[in-house]
This record gives sequence, C-alpha cells and structure tokens, in this order.
Amino acid sequence: MRESAIVLDFGSQYSQLIARRVRALGVYCEIVPPGVLMEKLRRDNVRAIILSGGPASVVTDGAPSLDKGILELGIPLLGICYGMQLLAKLLGGTVRGAESREYGPALLHVDGARWLFDGMPGKLDVWMSHGDQVERLPEGFELLAHTANCPVAAMGHSERKIYGVQFHPEVVHTPRGSEVLRNFLFNIAGCKGGWSMAGFVEEAVGKIRERVGNERVLCGLSGGVDSTVTAALLDRAIGRRCVAVFVDNGLLRMGEAEAVPTFFRDEYRINLRVVDARERFLAALEGVTDPERKRHIIGHMFVEVFKAEADKLGDIPFLAQGTLYPDVIESTSTFGGPSARIKSHHNVGGLPDDIDFALVEPLRELFKDEVRQLGRRLGLPEKVLTRQPFPGPGLAVRIIGEVTDERLRMLREADARVQQELEDEEIYDQIWQSFALLLPVKSVGVMGDERTYGNVVALRIVSSADGMTSDWVKVPYEVLGRISSRIINEVRGVGRVVYDISPKPPSTIEWE
Ligand code: XMP
Repeated sequence: MRESAIVLDFGSQYSQLIARRVRALGVYCEIVPPGVLMEKLRRDNVRAIILSGGPASVVTDGAPSLDKGILELGIPLLGICYGMQLLAKLLGGTVRGAESREYGPALLHVDGARWLFDGMPGKLDVWMSHGDQVERLPEGFELLAHTANCPVAAMGHSERKIYGVQFHPEVVHTPRGSEVLRNFLFNIAGCKGGWSMAGFVEEAVGKIRERVGNERVLCGLSGGVDSTVTAALLDRAIGRRCVAVFVDNGLLRMGEAEAVPTFFRDEYRINLRVVDARERFLAALEGVTDPERKRHIIGHMFVEVFKAEADKLGDIPFLAQGTLYPDVIESTSTFGGPSARIKSHHNVGGLPDDIDFALVEPLRELFKDEVRQLGRRLGLPEKVLTRQPFPGPGLAVRIIGEVTDERLRMLREADARVQQELEDEEIYDQIWQSFALLLPVKSVGVMGDERTYGNVVALRIVSSADGMTSDWVKVPYEVLGRISSRIINEVRGVGRVVYDISPKPPSTIEWE
C-alpha cells in the first residue's frame, strides 16, 4: 500500500507549501484538519505527520490542538513553528509569548546535528515568523538548534521520533529547508519515497476503471489545463466511453469557442461534443449583478446543460471535473484560517446539492504544477499546459455588474488586445494571468472635437506561483501605453483604461 505523509493544518498560510515540498521529495502528502480521526491515520498508511504553523498562540485558551493519542501512535512527528510549540506544551514543556515577534531571516546554529540536520553545516540561513517561543524543553528532549533571538529553534526526542523546528523549512527563504524535511521523512520516519507522476498515471487509470466499471462518463471540458488533463486521463482510462462536452456559454474569450474544439478534433483526438448554450446562459444572467449569484447561476447552468447532454446520449451516470487539491482545501475550510472559503469556485462550491451525477475528480489530490507534469506524461503539448488560468464563470466575473451582449463584445475585444500586445512583447508566458475587466462606470473623454462618455476598462496583469497570493506585474510603461491606446482607439464604447496595482492579499486576482 502507498505510504503517505500528512500535514495537520493549524491554519498556516504555508500548509500547502509543506505538502508540495513533501511530494516533491517523492512522498505522497495530504493536508488534513487537526481533528482528523485516528482511523484515517491507520487506514492511509501514514508514515510521517507534520504539524503546520498557525496564527493562534498555544498559550491562549481555546487554541487549536490535537488528540493526544496521536503522540502515542509511534508515527514520527515534526512540528513547525506553532506545531513545535504545541508539541512542547502537550509533552510537558513550557511556551511563553516573546517580548517581540521574530519575523524574517535568522542564522540558525545547529547544536545537535544528528538526524534532522544530518549532513548539513553548523550554521544555516532560516526564515522565522513567530511571537511565542519554547522556554523549557519537554522531558527527554534534546536541544538541536538555536538562534540569537530564539534559544530553542529546534528540538527532538530521537527515541520517540518527535521533532520540532521554530523556523519554516518549507519556504524558499530557508534555502536548505528541503534537506531538513528530507532528513525527517527518510532518515527519521523511514519513508521509501518514489511517489511520482509516472506512478500516478497508472494508479489514477486503475482507480477510474474501478469506479466507472462499464458505464460512460461525461467530462466537462473548458480547454483549460485542468479539464484538458482530466479528459486526457479519462481518455487513457476508458477511451470513447468518456464523452467530453465543451460548452460555449457565451462567456468565453475571443476565438476560444472555435480554437478549443479544433484542437481536440485535429491535434489531440478525443470523443468530443460541442454545445452552443450561449442564449441559455445569457438569459439566466439577465439583470443579475451580485457576484456570488452569478457564480451560482453559472454553476447550475453548466450542470443542467451536462444533464441534458447525458439524457440525449442515453444514461450517463458520471460527471468528470478537473477539480484540484487547492480547490478542495479552499472550499472546505478547517477553521477560518487562510484556507477559509473566499469565493465559491464553480467546480466545487457552486454545484447544486441535488446533483444527479456521481462525480469523478481524478485530479482532486494534485497541485497545479503536478497537473502540468501529468499532462506532459499524457503527451499534451506545452502550449496547452502553460495556458493561463481562466475562471469557470468566464467573462461573467470580469464584467462588473450586469452581463450583456454589448458589454461582452467590448470586454472580449479589449482582452484580445491585452493578450496580443503581451505576446508580441514575449512577456505573456512569464505571467500568471493577464486580462481586461469592464467596469460599471462611464467617464468623460474627448475624441476629435467631440465629447465622449465611454466605458472604463481595467487591466489586471499579475504574477503568482499558485493563485493563492499574487502581485501586480511591473509591465514597462510603453507596453501599458500601447495596450491602452489600442483599446481606446479600436474598441468602440471604451474611453478610458486603468491599471490595477493591488496585491493579493488583501485583494483577489479576479474582481468578483
Ligand atoms: P482569486 O480571484 O480568488 O482567484 O484571487 C484565484 C485564481 O482562481 C481563479 N478563479 C477561478 N477558477 N472557477 C475557476 O475554475 C472559479 O470560479 C474561479 N474564480 C477564480 C482565478 O482566475 C485565479 O487564477
């Protein structure tokens, strides 16, 4: 049975990063809330448990904790930051609030090189972010490292295989952090490693065949990376019994409604049906301005369209979707930490409760970069795998306010110019997302000798590693200028262009 590691999530913004680092080391890893049942630990062959950091303080009442029985299972444990403080407290040590927070880089002096710091130098650059610190070690624990401001920066009990580090080995600012995690997983926890995409393909194909039996599966296909890889995987598993359905919902970008079907007919052939549902979606959205309502209407409408297709084709009990692991975590928050639900993404939160399909979500366990690797294994071309993310609700969440034909036209034309200019500059591929938004404001202008009263387009061009955090891209002024001139001159009805310079958090990437 496949070995696994788990991250007990105490609300750290870095929980996903820990899981990704562990997977990159070849050990399958999941993130679970601290209230996880002991049963899951036994059932999933869990070989290592990592306690994440978190925003709470273990010295306050009601701070999140864990079942003490977990400490007695003999499964090796590594606490990070809050996780280490919690271990110290539960095992009889003491933790106190420090006078000043320690935030940023620090030099770690390794005092006990065995196990956790095996093969590493005596001084390491690490990243700290904490207020509290461990004051007295629990009985039987050894001091493994300290910094100038933090007397207990790492501790361990080699017999019980319980360790803690105050710094964050998962962030890039701790350059040798992956080695600490590797030492924990392999030297201490005895993991074997070897989890990779090659193994994943075989395993996923097997699981799909087992779940689906002789039935057929309808696969919602948007042409984005996630649904394309899902369709390719299903095609590998069950061939023509996977019916991919591409819905033209009228909310697509310029040229997309033609380009996606063409690709799947000519370049990467799968069993594909194309549905023109433009009128239905636009009618359902008429007069709707509330962002969450838009998302829900669109989510419901997708399922209705899929259902109608399934009925036309005879009975198709399964619906496949490209849901990813971050979507699952974002929609099922543990306790309102950073993994709290922020928006209902249509592929998870927006589905009706009484959906008639059984869901098949073969990418549910994967992060985005892993999906790209999987796509490469399945022979999908790079141009598809490096496509920028595009939200399920499409242009509807980029038109602030009501969605109308005329607004869609303006946004589509403006958006195409953003893409063209960035492609011409060869910066498009280095950007996480770049797009136009149509604002529900009008502004005065002058064209020729006439006063105009036109719409406002905002540009959103952001860098990001995973969509969870992002920053605006410092696009050269000349390029911004060219995009602006082209939009104002070429898109009828637009009189002004502005650039959005908000980071996420506190803003989000999309505006709705
Ligand atoms: P936000 O706006 O939350 O977006 O910062 C984070 C990333 O998710 C994309 N996004 C969506 N993707 N269905 C999707 O499949 C959705 O409903 C949805 N909403 C946002 C967004 O484009 C960005 O990459």
